[in-house]
Amino acid sequence: MAKRNVVKTIKPCSQLGEKVALPGDKSISHRAVILNSLASGKAEIANFAPGRDCCSTVSCLRALGVEICREGPQNCPTLLVSGIGKDGLREPANILNSGNSGTTMRLLGGLLTSQPFLSIITGDASLRSRPMGRLIKPLRSMGAEIYGRGKDSFAPLVIRGKELHGIEFSLPIPSAQIKSAILLAGLFAQGETVLHQPVPSRDHTERLLKHMGAELEINGNSLSLIPLTSSLASVSFRVPGDISSGAYFLVAGVVHPNARIIIKDCGINPTRTGIIDVLLAMGAKLKIENERVEAGEPLADIMIESSELRGVEIGGSIIPRLIDEIPVLAVAGCAARGKTVIRDATELRLKESDRIATVSRELSRLGAKIEPLPDGMVIHGGNPLVGAEVDAHFDHRLAMSLAIAGLIAKGRTTINHAQAAQVSYPAFWQDLQNLTI
Ligand code: S3P
Repeated sequence: MAKRNVVKTIKPCSQLGEKVALPGDKSISHRAVILNSLASGKAEIANFAPGRDCCSTVSCLRALGVEICREGPQNCPTLLVSGIGKDGLREPANILNSGNSGTTMRLLGGLLTSQPFLSIITGDASLRSRPMGRLIKPLRSMGAEIYGRGKDSFAPLVIRGKELHGIEFSLPIPSAQIKSAILLAGLFAQGETVLHQPVPSRDHTERLLKHMGAELEINGNSLSLIPLTSSLASVSFRVPGDISSGAYFLVAGVVHPNARIIIKDCGINPTRTGIIDVLLAMGAKLKIENERVEAGEPLADIMIESSELRGVEIGGSIIPRLIDEIPVLAVAGCAARGKTVIRDATELRLKESDRIATVSRELSRLGAKIEPLPDGMVIHGGNPLVGAEVDAHFDHRLAMSLAIAGLIAKGRTTINHAQAAQVSYPAFWQDLQNLTI
């Protein structure tokens, strides 16, 4: 069946401002609903991420027997989760569907290997072409029975849950999804699980596990987890705004010649703030105000203004701290004076689209000078962008990054398959429109 095509048109505007409220953080929302499902007691999760990815996690958990109610506005829902305790999950009556969400598949994949029943988990065409061998390998060394399709172990995944044993494992790549999958399996395994990370990846699972009473020790880049002897304690909280969604407005604010934007209640977990460090290094006028902590997660308001940017080099250990923001940072690179070089980001090729190829190709259609590299790209900034017809390749982050490029391009930019934004930020087009004056 042909996929539908929702087209969005972006035109430059004379001014951008002022306040934007972000959807709840997608990574934190997945973890909040999974861990509260396994807890004893009820939890209220406010500002739950409204996009399709987190809905996939919720429907899989419902299929596993968890009662989850949703109330409040569509774009800022509250979830009421009735935790069923550490032994409460039930065999699903049907195949679980993760949709487009790698986090759903990998986190639940890890958890389900430890549960005493059979489950099958699938996803959309994009997710069924993303690598699962990286998940299967460490889980099998814990004793898991988990199978993928073909020699590259693509989804659907078939899991025959059983008793696992803890492992000591060095993660070959800094993936928070794989780390979290092993930790979720380790909660139910026999004996301790010890993980060594090459460089830190996002640590939301660790923060929430500790907050809910798990015995988890963090020592530099290493973690050790003692399996659960009793259920986690449920925790009610408000999910901070998603910095990966805020990224579009951070970049819009700096690249637009007449902008001042205040982003309210934005998560600023240091494992996610690489974009702030890079924008500051590029010369952005950016201020962080009103810092506070909610359920172990730091958040703040961020103020950003039109700025003169210069090109920078981005690579090494900062990459996992900004991996999802590279498409929109490429737009900042187009507007900067000089060259921006992005290296060490081969993982971009394994996201919802091959983002090295798709970002380079689509921004080039707008007149950007970008050379793709095997592990990144070189952007020759300062070439004015000109509106054109572009395609989001069913990738939410590409759709929204192209919209920001369209704001500074001369003339009209038409974005095909713009519905991809639904995956993480359904209100994006409306919020962007509200900022344009
Ligand atoms: C995520 C981890 C990252 C990130 C993804 C969300 C998570 O993926 O790109 O969008 O919530 O754990 P990897 O674990 O594959 O690096």
